[in-house]
Amino acid sequence: MKKNNIFVEISFVILMNPQSDKSITILAIESSCDDTSAAIIRDGEVLSNCIANQTVHAQYGGVVPELASRMHDKNIVPVVSQALSVAGVSKTDLDAVAFTKGPGLLGSLLVGVNFAKSLGLGLGIPIVEVNHMEAHVMAHFAEAPYPDFPFLCLTVSGGHTQLVLVTDHNEMEVIGSTIDDAAGEAFDKTGKLLGLPYPSGPIIDKYAKLGSPLYTFAKPSVGEFDFSFSGLKTSILYALQKRVKEDPNWVTDNIYDICASVQSSIVNILLEKLEYAVDKHNVTSVAIAGGVSANSALREGLIALGKKKHWHTYIPAFSYCTDNAAMIGISGYYHYLAGHLSHQGVSPEPRLSITYPSKS
Ligand code: KG4
Ligand code: ZN
Repeated sequence: MKKNNIFVEISFVILMNPQSDKSITILAIESSCDDTSAAIIRDGEVLSNCIANQTVHAQYGGVVPELASRMHDKNIVPVVSQALSVAGVSKTDLDAVAFTKGPGLLGSLLVGVNFAKSLGLGLGIPIVEVNHMEAHVMAHFAEAPYPDFPFLCLTVSGGHTQLVLVTDHNEMEVIGSTIDDAAGEAFDKTGKLLGLPYPSGPIIDKYAKLGSPLYTFAKPSVGEFDFSFSGLKTSILYALQKRVKEDPNWVTDNIYDICASVQSSIVNILLEKLEYAVDKHNVTSVAIAGGVSANSALREGLIALGKKKHWHTYIPAFSYCTDNAAMIGISGYYHYLAGHLSHQGVSPEPRLSITYPSKS
């Protein structure tokens, strides 16, 4: 009994002491939507980041939750094995398993959460729960140069659009968000109207490079740090209906200019709000994150705006923009150092939001 107590105390000291010489190796699992990903992070460095994409959803024009969870079930063991083998790490080298607790699709999250719990139990190592939206921001700590605190991050993904004020690792506050569709949804839903496959964001980006933003659409007017994209979608729909009535081939004949116009409208809405929020919060370090941060116009627009405003701008590498387990591992690593461990009773939270200060 006494021996056990000593053991608990010693391991606690190692865990709580970031200066400890012991290196920390974490397996991270991401399964919140339609990509199954596993990564190995050692002392905050990404050793591997493997992703199994699910192409099955394209034919349905969006993610089918039931199919997504079945694919996660099928993919999770091979993806984890691949992440371990690429990193040259064995299961017994692991110090913790980090996983996405939410937000996301319940069935998809369940696969990752249960896998992490079982592996943690089997190996006798702690598990660390991670908020997916927090992790998109923390992707900036996967590779130098790291942003200085405080910084403002515009997180733009398929399900969220948030302005996040970041004061430390995993310490962040959402100061504004979308009141309806997310920026990624605006790309995907507009793409659907144009007959493009899902996800349409990358295709609109590609086609926009071949056209000019000749058309203008309605601009939203919402609360100071908030966003709205549903009006833009309706404005695009009405413009399409009107033009197609006059010329049935209008969309096909003008697809590149339409994509350039849609992309320019979405990017302008994002950058205008970002500029306003940065001015109001008086920060000089500014970042973008999430799937839509892979958009070339948004990346170029941020660089240009940053130069004009004398900001330090941070843009993630493409591999850290869309969903990936490396960002879960980086966020999990800083939670682990802070002693934020999870427990076997944890369950997925599809609507998990960022709490400040972090309570995980
Ligand atoms: O962060 P993410 O991988 O998944 C979520 O957490 O939602 O983001 C996916 C979203 C999709 O809506 C996709 O269309 C969009 O990111 N996306 C892009 C680009 N690449 C991905 N949108 C615009 N331009 C891109 N290059
Ligand atoms: Zn995401």
